[in-house]
Amino acid sequence: MTIQQQTELYELPLDLKPELLPKHVAVIMDGNGRWAKRQGLPRIMGHKRGVDALKDLLRCCKDWGIQALTAYAFSTENWKRPQEEVDFLMTLFQGVLRQELREMVEENVQIQFVGNLEALPRSLQAEISRSMEETKNNRGIRFSVATNYGGRQEILQACRAIAQKVQQGILKPDEISEEVFEGHLYTAGIADPDLLIRTSGEMRLSNFLLWQMAYGEIYITDTLWPDFDRAEFHRALCAYQQRERRFGKI
Ligand code: FPP
Repeated sequence: MTIQQQTELYELPLDLKPELLPKHVAVIMDGNGRWAKRQGLPRIMGHKRGVDALKDLLRCCKDWGIQALTAYAFSTENWKRPQEEVDFLMTLFQGVLRQELREMVEENVQIQFVGNLEALPRSLQAEISRSMEETKNNRGIRFSVATNYGGRQEILQACRAIAQKVQQGILKPDEISEEVFEGHLYTAGIADPDLLIRTSGEMRLSNFLLWQMAYGEIYITDTLWPDFDRAEFHRALCAYQQRERRFGKI
């Protein structure tokens, strides 16, 4: 790619139709460890570079007019990783939040976290609350970070909350509609993703947004997450715009 083409990517590429852009993009940022291994670096360096890739994608979504981005930062299964890596990730999340908050406020980003946040270290929880509070009135891009998130667990906690309301007589069983159910998910109020991108070639949902991805398009690339740049995103969006979304109709 020439420098000129690269520069052009700061604006929506001409071959993309603004009216057919996904409103909400979700990403499974896979391959940080493999990226680091290929460079002969420790795994944690892959996560550090992963943060840079995520920051650039967020800015790119903003530049190109995409309204919402959701990133899978830490799954309920990720606790099974070596303790040092888990600790590193928690510290990394906290540091990134602290460092980037001012810029997110200025750039009109509304950040929110989805997942079981109570199990996270207290200092991280405090940083999360601060960032959500300080950006809650921002009306630019909506950035959701799935942290200690698991789709099955999300559905179960919604069922429990609804069952409790039924038991207390607040809700009748036949009032449990899709809208009511969605209102009890971590993602309540956030539209479903139109496009999910997974890097590093794995073809799985890995417990991510199980309910929300009922009709979402999936795009898989072999590129490892730290190498996922604007040119890669451009390719993903071109592929998305070729798809015919039927939502069950013919
Ligand atoms: C998957 O790669 C990546 C993760 C589990 C962590 C992703 C987190 C970030 C990029 C940081 C996000 C930060 C904030 C504050 C939103 P992997 O380790 O599974 O890679 P591998 O499959 O090659 O081993």
